[in-house]
Amino acid sequence: MGWWERLSYLLGIKLSPDKQAFARRYLDDAGWFLFSQMSMLDQRHTLRAARYIVRKAAFQRGVVNLNNLVQAALLHDAGKIKGEILWVYRLPVRLVRDLFPRRQKRWAARDKSRSFRYALYVDLVHATRGAYMAKSLGLPATVVSLIKRHHDPQSRTYEPELSLLQEANRKN
Ligand SMILES: [Fe+2]
Ligand SMILES: [Fe+2]
Repeated sequence: MGWWERLSYLLGIKLSPDKQAFARRYLDDAGWFLFSQMSMLDQRHTLRAARYIVRKAAFQRGVVNLNNLVQAALLHDAGKIKGEILWVYRLPVRLVRDLFPRRQKRWAARDKSRSFRYALYVDLVHATRGAYMAKSLGLPATVVSLIKRHHDPQSRTYEPELSLLQEANRKN
């Protein structure tokens, strides 16, 4: 391995071969394409979430299809396309989403020239958009549905897969 490659792994510019292999094990070509079009920050976040699920699933009752759940974890933020949310906006966007959800809807704008408002817009629609992208590429319906609902409030009927995905998303 050359020094540049080693440095890219260390700086997080590129995914290390073992991380790539982990994602590849669960994703087909379409899934890999969706995964690769996320920013490196999101790829690393979704990988952590997926690994968290693999560790936890053994102790969680009712997880029927681990493979689909891991795919959903790897792709849940696929609706945030690389370059759309500047890294400096990540924390502010998250704060607005968590603290002022109604204002996020008001401030969000589909206008790329207003980068912060556009970042709020992308954040607002990323679950629906990611699900649409996954559906268009033929991913399983369960994966599509989990992606779509990964920020939804917990419903009254407990769904072990969705609840584990949301926990993995929060903690990673
Ligand atoms: Fe998300
Ligand atoms: Fe996420």
